[in-house]
Amino acid sequence: MRKYHLKKFYQNPLYKYEPWTITEKEFKIENNHHNETIFALGNGYMGLRGTLEEDYSGPEQTTTPGTYINGVYTEEKIIYGEEAPDLPEFYQTMVNLADWTGINLYLGDEKFDMLQGKVSGYKRVLDMKEGTLTRELTWESPQGRKVKLTIKRFLSLASPHIGVIKYSFTPVNFDGTITVESSLKGDVQNYHTLRNKKPLQVIDKAFSDGMLYLVHKIKNSGIEVATAVKNVISAGSGEIETTNSLIEGDKVIKLYKIEASQGQEYTLEKYACLYHSLEIDKEDIVDKVITEVSKAAEKGWDYLFENHCQFLQNYWDDVDIKIYGDDALQQALRFNAFHLIQSTGRDGKTNIAAKGLTGEYYEGHYFWDTETYILPFYLYSKPEISKDLLMFRYYTLDEARENARRMRLDGALYPWRTINGKEASGFFMGSTVQYHIDADIAYAINLYVTATRDYDFLFNYGAEILFETARMWASRGSYIELKGNRFCINEVCGPDEYKPGVNNNCYTNYMAKLNLELALEAYRLMEKKAPDNLKKLVEKINLQDSELEAWKRAADNMYLPYNEELGIHPQDDSFLYKDPIDVDSIPEEDIPLVKNWHPLVIWRYQVIKQADVILLMLLLGDQFTTQQKKANYDFYEPKTTHDSSLSPAIYSIIASEIGYHDSAYNYFMQTARLDLDDYNKNAYQGVHTACMAGTWLALVQGFAGMRNYNGELHFSPCLPEKWDGYEFKVKFRGRQLKITVNEEGVMYKLIKGEKLSFYHGDRKLELNSGEEHNIEMG
Ligand code: BGC
Repeated sequence: MRKYHLKKFYQNPLYKYEPWTITEKEFKIENNHHNETIFALGNGYMGLRGTLEEDYSGPEQTTTPGTYINGVYTEEKIIYGEEAPDLPEFYQTMVNLADWTGINLYLGDEKFDMLQGKVSGYKRVLDMKEGTLTRELTWESPQGRKVKLTIKRFLSLASPHIGVIKYSFTPVNFDGTITVESSLKGDVQNYHTLRNKKPLQVIDKAFSDGMLYLVHKIKNSGIEVATAVKNVISAGSGEIETTNSLIEGDKVIKLYKIEASQGQEYTLEKYACLYHSLEIDKEDIVDKVITEVSKAAEKGWDYLFENHCQFLQNYWDDVDIKIYGDDALQQALRFNAFHLIQSTGRDGKTNIAAKGLTGEYYEGHYFWDTETYILPFYLYSKPEISKDLLMFRYYTLDEARENARRMRLDGALYPWRTINGKEASGFFMGSTVQYHIDADIAYAINLYVTATRDYDFLFNYGAEILFETARMWASRGSYIELKGNRFCINEVCGPDEYKPGVNNNCYTNYMAKLNLELALEAYRLMEKKAPDNLKKLVEKINLQDSELEAWKRAADNMYLPYNEELGIHPQDDSFLYKDPIDVDSIPEEDIPLVKNWHPLVIWRYQVIKQADVILLMLLLGDQFTTQQKKANYDFYEPKTTHDSSLSPAIYSIIASEIGYHDSAYNYFMQTARLDLDDYNKNAYQGVHTACMAGTWLALVQGFAGMRNYNGELHFSPCLPEKWDGYEFKVKFRGRQLKITVNEEGVMYKLIKGEKLSFYHGDRKLELNSGEEHNIEMG
């Protein structure tokens, strides 16, 4: 393990280790940027960074406000250093939308500001069980007026278009005028990447009867987004004196002027509703947000909150992992699972961005991260969500077909980075050269079908993707005489982005072979079980028998790199011939290399960014012996910098499998609190969703050794020395299995569904509904 990784975890905990909450005890400017990410809320449809409701007077570089809708973007023409034919033309970038959270409070003429006057009794709590962010404090103004504040917000997971803030304040030591200014701000901007930082144009704005609304048109993409806000203010038995609304530029404001009495609590409930024109007609959008926000306000906070909590309760029932003996980890696992559900589009038309809905970095793009890292997390806990994720790929199949044509290939080539299904990367080396994304999607389809037996999905949607991606591979490779007439796939990049433009990347070739085989298998299955679907599909995509033969021939003759002498699988044809380098000798400040070394320098060395062959050892683990896994691990591990947060989890899993328990634990710890403790000093940019799912993978597939090989579940649990135990649930083919591992042993309990057989090591176990089986730790 690289020396600069070892020292990081648990050194600078930023929060107390609490099981269900993350608490900030003191508001500090220097933590603000990071906390905007940590305290971000989302519901898969929209996201909100953890900014304060009132105007923030701290330095600009310590804040990046953000209100996003999953899948809502602007486009900008890509400017290339040097032009070349057929390069993608446009970037897509997730847009920062109208800020509906603004609430300023004036005590007389003094404006509440965390950075002025005195703050006492402060805490801000992210409650992951109930999905809320709450801030409590007492503020003493420079002139000595004291007000107690409790501000709570959530974005409804049950009604994803709705968000609510409950803003309560009580004058502590004075009677007098308090003004509440609740705004909907249209003059917002993006902070990262875009050349035109203000891609939004306000095309409509108005107020009426406690309601404010605003419509934005997004430049280039033409998407329109409407936001409506409804304010409901109450003061128990007290009177609210005057109310006003006004429009200041692109800001719509509702003012409440209150003759407030000492000790009386006043509450503003602020309901927001967002819709956009990719989901409903432009003409209907204003009516829709107004109607929906009014309904939400009528139903009220309690009703919405209860439904939101119920959603989460149901989520946690299936997803929660319990760790005994490490509170920091318990907190982290929940934090990760919480941010994953907050980030995940569940409508089949949106997906999960690399940074979720918590920041602009990576432009809100979806990557292979979804299928390879995040999908398994859902598949075994909330399989219906994994289907939504795969449906996104079906929904964007036409764009993938177009992308294949651009590259003069058959079938469909999925984009490396995208929001709308089109390739959004302007970088071909190390990026769009990662053709393996097609096979990753095919792999995920197979995983989904074997774990759910959802053949309807396969026959109606999955097969079409499998056929089109198989076509892509068949046209992408060729038979090379000097390689024994094997089917070779040249000029690709595997998962390791430090080796682009190589021939026969081992991961890619194995996965492409699988993709071809899965397509053939699906075809054979449909011949028997769904001939009508098959007939329609064959006609739709004009599939020829000769193509099936070509797929079989390519799969059977795929060139699969292996070096007898070293007993390892070379990452690609050139890897072993690159310049050796002692990775430990690279100064820590040069890491990550991608930020510090010219690409040509990186490419010439035997240095690896992230798990590549080692990932293959996981995904197709049944095709390799333990000896081969060990040899590959020993060979590649010293060459890997883990410059991508996607890497350590995979090394942890294989380390567990081959009995390198210390390394497994150490790598696991690199992932678990990555954002919470900000190991990479970049959490302000947004959370790392693939890494968050990686933590789950490393526990369930690593320490518990779970694998799904051809629809059979395998476990081989071990217990890291530092823990007392752990427990998680797995859904499989309509059943739910609970696995508890502690010092005494392993307990498997079938908590839902009919008889299930699975493997514990080599031993086949069978459980009936409600039955459990205990095995002593060997
Ligand atoms: C990794 C990719 C990943 C992307 C988004 C990059 O740094 O190398 O594998 O897809 O980040 O998470």
